[in-house]
Amino acid sequence: MSTDATRLWEKGAALDAAIHRFTVGDDPYWDRRLVHWDCLGSAAHARTLSRAGLLDASELGSLLTGLATIDARARDGAFAIPAELEDCHTAIEAELIRSCGAAGEKIHAGRSRNDQVATALRLFMRHHALDWAPQVHRFIEALAQRAAVDGNVPMPGYTHLQPAMPSTVGAWLHALAEAALEQYRALLDLLGRLDSCPLGTGAGYGVPLPLDREYTASLLGFTRVQRSAIDVQNSRGRMEKYFVRVAADFATLLEKLSSDLILFATAEFGFIGLPDALTTGSSIMPQKRNPDVLELLRARGARLRTRLSELEAVTAGLTSGYHRDLQLTKEPPIRTAEELPDMLLIATRVIADFTVDRDRLQTAMRPELYATHAALALTTAGVPFREAYRRIADEVRGGRFDANRAREWRDNPTGVANTIWDAIRDECTALRSQCANVAARIASAESALLPASE
Ligand code: ARG
Repeated sequence: MSTDATRLWEKGAALDAAIHRFTVGDDPYWDRRLVHWDCLGSAAHARTLSRAGLLDASELGSLLTGLATIDARARDGAFAIPAELEDCHTAIEAELIRSCGAAGEKIHAGRSRNDQVATALRLFMRHHALDWAPQVHRFIEALAQRAAVDGNVPMPGYTHLQPAMPSTVGAWLHALAEAALEQYRALLDLLGRLDSCPLGTGAGYGVPLPLDREYTASLLGFTRVQRSAIDVQNSRGRMEKYFVRVAADFATLLEKLSSDLILFATAEFGFIGLPDALTTGSSIMPQKRNPDVLELLRARGARLRTRLSELEAVTAGLTSGYHRDLQLTKEPPIRTAEELPDMLLIATRVIADFTVDRDRLQTAMRPELYATHAALALTTAGVPFREAYRRIADEVRGGRFDANRAREWRDNPTGVANTIWDAIRDECTALRSQCANVAARIASAESALLPASE
């Protein structure tokens, strides 16, 4: 691309090179992920300008072809964002001016990089949130399948990491599935929050041109416009937090899964085994098979959660309206979008492939785990609970406790009822079809925005 193009705000005065470098920062790097989305936003804006009589049909055609070409070049890694042009919005506009001439000079009427960047990010986040859905679905399905195989295997339940009550592998898997389902619901809620169109609000105080914002919104596959122009700017960082929040809460769940499995896979616990394909070795200790994959899943989860603090920190003290601070709210959602899918993929793989050592688990089912059950059995026979509690406590302390008192439970460890897994699967199916509806609506809108490029 020609680099004699200038910044959009250039008025002839020289800018200090260090100041320029500092204010541009990493923008050209992160904005590479936004080129496609800014091309779509620009196409919707050009169509809206044309509807308002501000571009004629041939100017519109030329701009749309120019945008499709830029989009295709970006897909091939052949569209550069030179640092002197600051960001993708400027680079795209400069290229349109180069390729479309006068029409290129017209496209910025009624828009600002402030509503452009909000739009590009919203489209980006919407796309990635939709992309997460099938992976979340597969993760939950892997848990359900695992439960169908090992669900009834007894497993000690811990509080304070001390043996507490009898539980099952199925109950442990179920807890993870419910937490994942909650995030699946949150994903749909997120899609709803992201479903308002920022474009057409300019720098944050509206645009004194007859732009049909409802039309722009529908072109981009949004069901509503974001009505307040000021709120468009105020919501930078806020929308990103919603997006990162869903991923961060998922990450928390994956951290718990990792920590549980790391503990269960120790020689001392030995409840589960990790097949060779999931473990890595030591350069010095010949016997080692290490759960590095789980440790890194946990650490990446922890790091992903810091993206949320980053967004909180950058946006907390800002007054209403645009501030350049907001430029730094791009990196956290972009990193998040790139990191979560791999984490989900790896976690799903681990769920499917770890082995359960039924003998070790059986051995770990020490009689005291059944003490609460035994006390409750006495209460059903009419003994007040506090007295039953003392009796069982005495038996345990005196080494006289016999788990046969709770044999009913001990001999029939039941995982989680199939009807519960069925309900989880049904809800997943319903969520998947809701996500698919949103995806279809968006795909049909987006695919109509730009002419097909060769
Ligand atoms: N890179 C900028 C951002 O992300 C784009 C908007 C620049 N707007 C401005 N008024 N300087 O916020």
